[in-house]
Amino acid sequence: MYKTGAGSEIQTTILPTSKPNSFQQRIQLIGTGKLDYSPTNPETTEVKKVSDKELVVTISQDSIKQYELKIDKALAAKDVSAASGEVIFNKMACATCHSADGAKSHGPTLLGLAGSHRPIIGMKEKQLADDAYIRESILAPNKKVVEGFPPNYMPVFNLPENEVDSLLLYIKTFKNK
Ligand code: HEC
Repeated sequence: MYKTGAGSEIQTTILPTSKPNSFQQRIQLIGTGKLDYSPTNPETTEVKKVSDKELVVTISQDSIKQYELKIDKALAAKDVSAASGEVIFNKMACATCHSADGAKSHGPTLLGLAGSHRPIIGMKEKQLADDAYIRESILAPNKKVVEGFPPNYMPVFNLPENEVDSLLLYIKTFKNK
């Protein structure tokens, strides 16, 4: 929540959106005054004025629109191992959005993820990043969205169980030294 000078408040809520590659935010002014918003990039930002005190802003991620999944479905790896996980990670281009070394990217870094506690949008308590959470994050990325990151951004990968297991083993090797 932002505080405005006049003692009014601006409240923002991230809205779920069915549109791929985009996210929506409701911006509400609580108190006196009028709300206006001119986006810095009108090409990727759409502003809908609901009232003088409420705007709905839709941002489409250009970089993500250009992101095309070029997946070679015929993966050589059939076994379950961290090594196979690495092959899948590279083939699926997970690194386009996730670093393994703490660097910022489109998505959260996966360094030190396993066993850590993640802030999730709409959840009071932090989520333990156990095996179940990491699996779910890969198969159904919009079920629990990490704070600070947009929903509907990570593509849904329909991966077979053995590949998810391998990815899980590989992600667990990203440990803080
Ligand atoms: C186009 C960008 C993009 C690609 C490609 C992508 N992700 Fe993500 N991923 C995200 C974003 C953004 C989030 C955070 C929002 C959320 O929780 O859905 C995320 C969240 C995650 C999380 C939870 C991280 C946390 O901090 O709790 C895991 C695990 C994950 N992704 C694994 C993968 C794997 C494995 C692949 C490849 C098979 C992949 N991602 C490909 C964007 C991407």
